[in-house]
Amino acid sequence: MRDALSIFLIDDDKDLLRATKQTLELAGFKVSAFSVASEALGALNADFAGAVVSDIRMPQIDGLQLFDRVRKEDEDLPVILVTGHGDIPMAVKAIQDGAYDFITKPFATERLVQAVKRALEKRGLVLENRALRRAADQARDDLPLIGQTPTMERLRRTLRQIADTEVDVLVTGETGSGKEVVASLLHRWSRRASGNFVALNCGALPETVIESELFGHEPGAFTGAQKKRVGRIEHASGGTLFLDEIESMPPSTQVHMLRVLEMREVTPLGTNEVRPVDLRVVAAAKVDLGDPEQRGDFREDLYYRLNVVTISIPPLRERRDDIPLLFGHFAERAASRFKREVPAISSAVQRHLQGHAWPGNVRELSHFAERFVLGVEQLPASAPPSAPETGEVLPLPERLDRYEASIIREALDANGGDVRRTIAELGIPRKTFYDKLQRHGIVRSQFAASKSGQI
Ligand SMILES: Nc1ncnc2c1ncn2[C@@H]1O[C@H](COP(=O)(O)OP(=O)(O)OP(=O)(O)O)[C@@H](O)[C@H]1O
Ligand SMILES: [Mg+2]
Repeated sequence: MRDALSIFLIDDDKDLLRATKQTLELAGFKVSAFSVASEALGALNADFAGAVVSDIRMPQIDGLQLFDRVRKEDEDLPVILVTGHGDIPMAVKAIQDGAYDFITKPFATERLVQAVKRALEKRGLVLENRALRRAADQARDDLPLIGQTPTMERLRRTLRQIADTEVDVLVTGETGSGKEVVASLLHRWSRRASGNFVALNCGALPETVIESELFGHEPGAFTGAQKKRVGRIEHASGGTLFLDEIESMPPSTQVHMLRVLEMREVTPLGTNEVRPVDLRVVAAAKVDLGDPEQRGDFREDLYYRLNVVTISIPPLRERRDDIPLLFGHFAERAASRFKREVPAISSAVQRHLQGHAWPGNVRELSHFAERFVLGVEQLPASAPPSAPETGEVLPLPERLDRYEASIIREALDANGGDVRRTIAELGIPRKTFYDKLQRHGIVRSQFAASKSGQI
């Protein structure tokens, strides 16, 4: 720790300053010397990684005033005062006020070195504790559910009410709207919080893998199953099982899952053993499973089993009043992560915040905030279609046309030019999509390139 920490040494007697600096450096400390207190104060801040050693008697700002200002900046920053004989009562008072130590002139080198060493040790601990506390705070706020619109207030209330019940929950919402945030809050606000929160993305795993992931298996249950594997369901026992993208669960797995939900027991592959599980299931879907068209081959009985309580998270465009709050939060977070200042918000940024459709919802907004803080955001220069800057008012069909083009551009932009995702988001057939690109003169590859600003 000693390496990382340093001493600010202040004395108006330049010879003494040089000599003391040398003494401390010989003892292995890093020292910055100042002959004027104001200079030292200018270089200090609340997280200063070190301690201050200052003479008391100095013109302009003296050692006691310096101590006073340092204490206001950070009361845990150790200040050691160096005093002449006549100043001892003053120094004693300073100690009572929280100064770390005082040393009377002339002093033995060892006395100073020991005092500095202890002060730095103490400082090291304080800074370490602060860092830990900050990390803990951040971890706790890692998944906050920000929002002050009535919808979000209501959502939070509902979550509080049901978090600690045993009921299974279905969470629906568009991509990036906060389904995982909600699922994790349901876990953290419940008595199950001490158990595991086990997430499984049903859309990301091939059909052959998903069953053994969920139910576990014994050695030799199938080709390649060499070792016994405890399934995610058992792993979540006592905690919460989060089944993400449940709409993509293969039909055969759905049958098995239904049984788990009904019986609260699991049979690992390759066994006849039935093991009880104490489970709370939270499932998330991007589509409305209640609608037979959107449900596709998702089993109706499983839907009804999951649908005891459904929480629908509205898309961001339906809670626009939360955008500034969320944007501010993400910008602050990005600024501290990238060690930058939050830049001033230009009117183009403001227009974008208010006018953009945010098809990628809160995730898209958080990426936008990060690019904004990094200064790599390039907003399209074009004005929003509904507000032609020339003042001309276009006929309705033309306005609709422009609006459609801007929606397509936004979707392409949000999806980094990925056609499959864009089409899924727009909910139109592939052919229609390409027809529209052509009609509006939209070049898809440009959007893939614009993603380079993304982090
Ligand atoms: N209300 C909110 N307050 C703060 N952060 C939020 C909020 N909603 C979402 N986020 C953040 O936005 C990002 C996307 O949220 P999340 O992963 O929960 O979305 P999702 O609905 O699960 O998306 P997908 O369907 O794409 O998996 C995360 O980083 C999350 O922390
Ligand atoms: Mg998710």
